[in-house]
Order: sequence, then structure tokens, then C-alpha cells
Amino acid sequence: MTWWIWALLVVGAALALLALYDVTQKKHAILRNFPVVGHLRYALEKVGPELRQYIVTDNDEERPFSRDQRRWVYSSAKGENSYFGFGTDNRTDIVGYPIFKHSAFPIVAEKDDNSTLPAAKVVGARTGRPGAFRPASIVNISAMSFGSLSGPAIQALNRGAVLAGCLHNTGEGGISDHHRLGGDLVFQIGTGLFGARDADGQFSMDVLLESIADTPVRSIELKLSQGAKPGLGGVLPAEKVTKEIAAARGVPVGVTVRSPSRHASFDDVPGLVAFVESIAEATGLPVGIKSAVGDAGFWLELASEMATDGRGPDFITVDGGEGGTGAAPLVFSDHVALPFRDAFPVVFNAFAERDIHHDVVFVGAGKLGFVPDAAIALAMGVDVVAVGREAMLAVGCIQAQKCHTGHCPTGVATQTRRLTRGLDPTDKAERVASYIRALRHDLLSLSHAIGVVHPSLVRLDQIALRTSDGRMADATTALPADPRWFTDERRDRLAAALAG
Ligand SMILES: Cc1cc2nc3c(=O)[nH]c(=O)nc-3n(C[C@H](O)[C@H](O)[C@H](O)COP(=O)(O)O)c2cc1C
Repeated sequence: MTWWIWALLVVGAALALLALYDVTQKKHAILRNFPVVGHLRYALEKVGPELRQYIVTDNDEERPFSRDQRRWVYSSAKGENSYFGFGTDNRTDIVGYPIFKHSAFPIVAEKDDNSTLPAAKVVGARTGRPGAFRPASIVNISAMSFGSLSGPAIQALNRGAVLAGCLHNTGEGGISDHHRLGGDLVFQIGTGLFGARDADGQFSMDVLLESIADTPVRSIELKLSQGAKPGLGGVLPAEKVTKEIAAARGVPVGVTVRSPSRHASFDDVPGLVAFVESIAEATGLPVGIKSAVGDAGFWLELASEMATDGRGPDFITVDGGEGGTGAAPLVFSDHVALPFRDAFPVVFNAFAERDIHHDVVFVGAGKLGFVPDAAIALAMGVDVVAVGREAMLAVGCIQAQKCHTGHCPTGVATQTRRLTRGLDPTDKAERVASYIRALRHDLLSLSHAIGVVHPSLVRLDQIALRTSDGRMADATTALPADPRWFTDERRDRLAAALAG
């Protein structure tokens, strides 16, 4: 045999060994799904910073999540060094750039503990629900259904919720076996009523009670709309309605299911409040609503109705228009519903005007899975943040943006067996938990640097943002939040709740 045949044999054998290693290892879904060639992705990631000095984009250009943001999630999730060297490479002169004002006398943490970071408020206290509880974590996993995400991805999130001690929202696809690994659940009821519908597709309290029996469901979230596709229903095509998905959703196998654009059980604010109360009464659990913000009149009316008789939603999840989805028409993702920082004050103001903002729990979502964004949201009145796509990144998502095609290469947002087999839920659960702990840890360190003991106590005037005239202005004027509601009395209440 000539030398080059030997060389080919050696290279062939090495590649075969590498392929064998790739398909059997459990750390990297990309390598399991794409043995050998998958290494290119890691090689490019490694030399990316050097290459980008000469070509293409910088660290903050990509959307929805920049390279820096993704790198921070990946390294936090892997428990690796998430520090950045050489100083900031951000443009600090761009409009909206936030700066937190550190104290000359920061708080010295008693211990470097990121195991818990509870919310100040108790969900369901205002209405006296039997199942009222204080969320143990101010960072929780946002609604993403089994169907939009794969079974192994849901398992990773659920186990991750156990490890991080946070809540896992089921999304609107009902409760599947993948949700039953011990993580505390928020059961979401969307307009398709999956997990709460009878054979004719109508709301059924009996089916709802059956769905949540023997599960760690802590609260129920009625989804009115979602930031990425507000005012729009959905279609689950027949081929996607597998036996497993049909069982979780309570629909027939292999038949197309449509979710309407709104709930059929109520058509005005009093009807919504009555529906919330009926679910709370039957289940004993706190009940909230999730919505994107469009028409402001709805929120004023809802707050008035709730202020009148003390009933109604225990928590309000505000989803920013920049939020994610499995699939939506572009105009809805790009141009319907206010972005989070504009949306949240509309809701908070409506409740504060009627002085019921102290007792209702506000959940925020919409790219809040990063320390500066979460810290600003908390200072604006949010009590708890929900992270969606950032948790997906921790599971291994590479922002391929193929959720709507069924061809997600990392097995996170697909039901294709060939792709989901690469995702090891046990390893990825550790990463989800590690990421959530890191976010809590850094939020706490930031608040200590600012001089307060909890991120919910950061004042708006302790944050400054670059304005269009080039100056740094306090968030009290640079953000649409209304400073009237951020009183010492409000902070004292929160501080007392945290201490108690
Ligand atoms: C793949 C995917 C599926 C989602 N499914 C739901 C859902 O079932 N119900 C819901 O209310 N929101 C759903 N969302 C929206 C998220 O819960 C969240 O509100 C939104 O993405 C904003 O958070 P983020 O920016 O941290 O992702 C989904 C988002 C994604 C990316």
C-alpha cells in the first residue's frame, strides 16, 4: 500500500473514533446530532473574537440576544468563568445605556450565597387564597409549552427548577410527563384551554381539577396574550399532534387543533374577574393573568374593578412586545404590543392610581434574563422576572431561530426524534439551575454595590440612563415609570416584607 492510502486510513479511523465519541457523549447536543462537523461550530465560537476584529459584527450587534449576552448565559450555565477581561467594549454613549450608581459604602454580603433570593410579596395574600405563597426565587422560568419545546428540553427546565428552587411555567400546552420531575409549576391556561377543556373544546373545571391533581402546581396563569403575537390564535398542525402531545393537551391524536385569539368564557373585565374567581375558588390556588400591553383602557378598568371589591387576579404577568414565541407572523412580533419598558408602567400606573399595587404581584417578561435588564425591571415595580429564551440558551439553544420549522439543530425547540436525542436533560438541568443561580447572584451583588440588601429595594434614582441629548439622567425621568409611586412608604413595605 502506498503512503497516501495509509494516511487516508489513519484519518478515516480518527474521524470514525471522533464520530463515535461525539454520538455517545452527553454534554453537547450539537455534536450528538451532527458528529464531526459539529466541531466546526465550537472552533468558530472559539476563534470568533479574533476573527471579528477583522470582519463582521461586534459583540453587541446580534439580535435578539447579542454575543456578549449569549456568552454570559452559556458561561454562567456551565459554571465557567463568566468574567470579561480588559474592560467594557460597550458603547456607553448610546441612548438608553444604563448605569447603576454604586454606593461609597456598599453592603458587605454576610456570605456568598446564591441559593435563594425570595420575592418580597406573597402571591394570593390580597385575596386570601388558601394556596397563597411567597415565590422562593425572584427569577423563574417563563411559559413555554411541551410542543413548542421538546420533551428533553421541558425535562431539563423542570429538573433545573428543582435544583434552583424556582417556578416552572407549563406554557399553554398542558402538563406532560416531562413536567412531572418535581419542579413547582405554574399551570397556564391559554385560549386553546389545553388541560382544561372538554371533548367539545369548551372550558371544563372538572378537567382542570383532574389535570392539576397530584402535581406541584402552585398557581394558575390565564394567558390573555403574549408579547410576540398578541391578539392572535394559533394552529397546531395534525402531524405535530403526537400521542404524547395529544395526551398533555387533551385533544385527539393527529387532528389539527386551533387556539382562538381570545378566551370564550368572558368578554369583558367583570367577566374576566368572575372567571378568575371561579378558578381560584375551585382550586384554592392563586390565579393570575398574562398579557402584552396594547389598549391602556383595559388596565384602568381592571384595576378599578379589582379596587372595588378586592377580588381578581393575584398576579399580573406583563410580557413585552420584544418577547419570544415558537412561531408568529412578522408584523405581530415586530409591530404589535408595547416593548416591556413602555408596557409595564401602563399596568403599574393603573394599579398604583387605585392604591392596589402593594398587594398585586407583578411578573415581568421580555428579555429580562440579564442582570441590568432585570435590575431595571425590578426598580420599575416588577416583583418577579420570568425568563424564557435565556433559559432556552442555558439548555443549549444557539439562537438558530428555527423554532417555527421543527429543525432546531440543538433539539430544544423541535419534536424531531433525531434532533431531540442529542439533548441530555440531566446535564442541561444543571446548566439551567446554574444560570438562574448566577442571575440571582449577580442581581444581589449589584444591589449590594448600590447599597441595598435586595434588588427589589433599588430606587429609580439609583439608576441613570443616557438620554438623546447626550446626558445621563436619573431613571425617574429617563424611563416612562411614574416617580409618584416609588415612595419611601412603598420601599418600607417591601423591606418589612423581606425582613418578615
Ligand atoms: C419557544 C417559545 C414558546 C413559548 N410559549 C409560550 C406559551 O406557551 N405561553 C406563553 O404565555 N408564552 C410563551 N412564550 C413566551 C415566553 O413565555 C416569554 O413571555 C417571552 O419569550 C419573553 O421572555 P424572554 O424574552 O425571556 O424569552 C414562548 C416563548 C418561546 C421562545
